[in-house]
Amino acid sequence: MATSPEIVLVTGASSGIGRELARCFAADGSKLILVARKRDALNALADELRREFKSHIEVLPADLAEPAAPGRIFDYLQAAGTKVDVLVNNAGFGAKGTFAELPLDRQMEMVRVNVTSLTHLTRLFLPGMISRRRGGVLNVASTASFQPGPGMAVYYATKAYVLWLTEAIAEELAETGVTVTALCPGPTVTNFFSAAGGVPSRYFERAAMSAEEVARIGHVAFRRGRVIAVAGFRNRLMAFSTRLAPRSLVRKVAGWLNAAKQSNK
Ligand SMILES: NC(=O)c1ccc[n+]([C@@H]2O[C@H](COP(=O)([O-])OP(=O)(O)OC[C@H]3O[C@@H](n4cnc5c(N)ncnc54)[C@H](OP(=O)(O)O)[C@@H]3O)[C@@H](O)[C@H]2O)c1
Repeated sequence: MATSPEIVLVTGASSGIGRELARCFAADGSKLILVARKRDALNALADELRREFKSHIEVLPADLAEPAAPGRIFDYLQAAGTKVDVLVNNAGFGAKGTFAELPLDRQMEMVRVNVTSLTHLTRLFLPGMISRRRGGVLNVASTASFQPGPGMAVYYATKAYVLWLTEAIAEELAETGVTVTALCPGPTVTNFFSAAGGVPSRYFERAAMSAEEVARIGHVAFRRGRVIAVAGFRNRLMAFSTRLAPRSLVRKVAGWLNAAKQSNK
């Protein structure tokens, strides 16, 4: 019996890494469901991928900061008989500033997008994947997942959550035929910095990878069933060094880097 084409839902597909991840899965011949707030950007990407890959693409605009959004997406797809094989939890954003000064609303919104909706969507779609013994979840974490981040405290904490959740679920899923991967990008050229209200330093600009390269690394890692994929040698070295250095030093250095990012040193 021929297997049906893979269906992949990508959140945050309207720009940056999510847009490029959608392109990777479209190139595989998968059917795509694109989620983000910017309907026009999603439609433009859908048109592009249909032309380039003859892909079957559905655009589903949603604000993942709304607590009801994941349930609405799941119910809509269930009602349409659409079985999601791969969930790409990429939507997310950061905010620069100290914890006590950044607006509370913005920080709570970040937790809802980066943590709550990611958890909610994963919990809704994973059981179907397990029962079909097919597919998996690709979560976009960060090199921020590996240490506390003074100057972006909530962002770093949300990304630590994503990494730890991914690793734990991956262990629980052994032998199920379903995999979970955390992609951990370092600095990447996207709209992330303008959304975070900051300016990348010259060091950051030099070290930054393209969204295309980062997405390709995440896509390959997911296809291979790897649990953690840190994008790029420099980022792997930094992530590894946080394990060897004293925590007091690690958090200080992260704070310096974030302060340097802010003042463009
Ligand atoms: N760029 C970096 O240096 C970097 C490094 C490490 C990790 N990351 C992670 O990579 C992921 C993608 O970010 P990016 O760098 O590609 O930045 P980006 O270009 O700003 O893309 C962020 C995406 O998330 C979506 N999004 C944000 N808030 C949303 C909401 N409330 N509801 C639905 N979608 C929402 C945005 O779409 P709409 O605005 O259309 O809603 C957009 O598609 C994020 O999880 C980020 O934390 C980025």
